[in-house]
Amino acid sequence: LDADQAALVRGAWDKVKHSEVEILAAVFTAYPDIQAKFPKFAGKDLASVKGSADFALHATRIVSFISEVLALAGNSATAPAIETLVTELANNHKNRGVTKDQFTEFRTALTNYVSAHAPWGDNVAAAFNQAFDNVYATIFARL
Ligand code: HEM
Repeated sequence: LDADQAALVRGAWDKVKHSEVEILAAVFTAYPDIQAKFPKFAGKDLASVKGSADFALHATRIVSFISEVLALAGNSATAPAIETLVTELANNHKNRGVTKDQFTEFRTALTNYVSAHAPWGDNVAAAFNQAFDNVYATIFARL
């Protein structure tokens, strides 16, 4: 991402990043197969786990990871640091049997959530898509 694109994505993300639990709940609602991969949440009603400390903890981990990557975006000097973080994420998730299709589902759900809860326009959408394309190129090469 160039600096302008990174600023657009961060601007949208800043509007939703405090809604960690709602974001993860939206992902699980849209794609129960993702919820089923989590040992702590598999086979349970979303309503029964959504208020738990485990749910909040995992939601915060995901959101914090994305915030960490976005803080590094838009600067070629920090591109290698992003690559390292994303490669580690890809390897961890490969080891859990997460598929490309599930990563694509996650992308769809997250994009739907952010586009519905942050100011959105063609320029934001394009920057957001570019960010996912970049990160997913690294992830898909390892799954
Ligand atoms: C764990 C982020 C997509 C399933 C984690 C962790 C982070 C994270 C930060 C905790 C650190 C770790 O153990 O690796 C993300 C991000 C995603 C993503 C940023 C998309 C870009 C997915 C998808 C699935 C998934 C699509 C399942 C279909 C899991 C599971 C764990 C995990 C099962 C372990 C939970 C546990 O410790 O019990 N994820 N994840 N993730 N993720 Fe993801």
